[in-house]
Amino acid sequence: MKEQLEKIYANAAADIEKSASITDLDEVRAKYLSRKGEFNEIKKNLKNLSDEDKRIVGSLANQITQKLETSIKAKHDEFYKKELDAKLLKEKIDITLPGKFERLGKSHPLTTTTNEIVSIFQSLGFSVVSNSQSPEVETEYYNFDALNVPKDHPARDMQDTFYVENASNVILRSQTSGAQIHAMEGKNPPIRIIAPGRVYRNESVNARKNNFFHQIEGLYVDKDITFGDLKGVLNEFIRIYFGASRPTRFRNSFFPFTEPSAEVDVQCIMCEGKGCRICSGTGWLEILGSGMVDPNVLRGVGIDPDVYSGFAFGMGIERLAMLKYAVDDIRLFFNNDERFLNQF
Ligand code: DAH
Repeated sequence: MKEQLEKIYANAAADIEKSASITDLDEVRAKYLSRKGEFNEIKKNLKNLSDEDKRIVGSLANQITQKLETSIKAKHDEFYKKELDAKLLKEKIDITLPGKFERLGKSHPLTTTTNEIVSIFQSLGFSVVSNSQSPEVETEYYNFDALNVPKDHPARDMQDTFYVENASNVILRSQTSGAQIHAMEGKNPPIRIIAPGRVYRNESVNARKNNFFHQIEGLYVDKDITFGDLKGVLNEFIRIYFGASRPTRFRNSFFPFTEPSAEVDVQCIMCEGKGCRICSGTGWLEILGSGMVDPNVLRGVGIDPDVYSGFAFGMGIERLAMLKYAVDDIRLFFNNDERFLNQF
């Protein structure tokens, strides 16, 4: 049995020597050292030996298996290192190559401008109405009638407003002012809201006009609201949005739903009031319409004009963005040209 063991050992040692890879070594181990391997077969026959021989052959078998384990491991480590080195060499990373950049999306300049204006008015105590209180598809009632715009007013002309076919009183709203009516209907003052959103006008498109654009409507109704409150709120808005140094002026105007009405101008940001192409030589740029809510409008929604008064305003978001960022063509906001958008 001793000779048998030594013969198996010699074969195993030769097989290890011949191994060329980790897989070969695994096979050698299975052949000699596994449960079904050759050494185990011998160990099974130990029981037939005398106690004395059992001890001698047993310990020899153990020594041999240990030696084989050790040389398999040594060879295994050697192959492992070689294979790893080869792999590392193949997968070597050139850290001097330029990286790949993930392109991150960002807010559209009109979204940024809207958010900025909204948060200024929120800080002044106004809350934003829900979309259902400020729909883009409106009836003539909310867009015109309830706002004291008479049936024969030129703003109702088909040239200005998009009408929906098959439903003569349904339109794409031409102004956000209808949100004033939604905000007041069935509610009691105080009412202090803003309503940002898209409006549509049937106009030919050019650098100053697009057939849709965005407005923010504002409304404040309570007891004892005066024109002084209107001026205070709008001046404060302009101070925050354009910076403290920009002069403003309130100019007498007319809107059917406010009396008195005023338009607000800021000093031209291009020429600082000297007069240039942007401000058509006047030195001023108009930014919004406003006024004290007409008593007819209050009465129409069931608010008593002898008890309550209010002011309203509406401004064009594109216009405010164009003035702040010196953009000279409104169409740039809608073309989605990345050379433009990436500047914001
Ligand atoms: N809706 C007007 C427009 O589109 C702007 C406006 C003027 C809104 C006066 C108002 C206002 O609330 O009081 O030209």
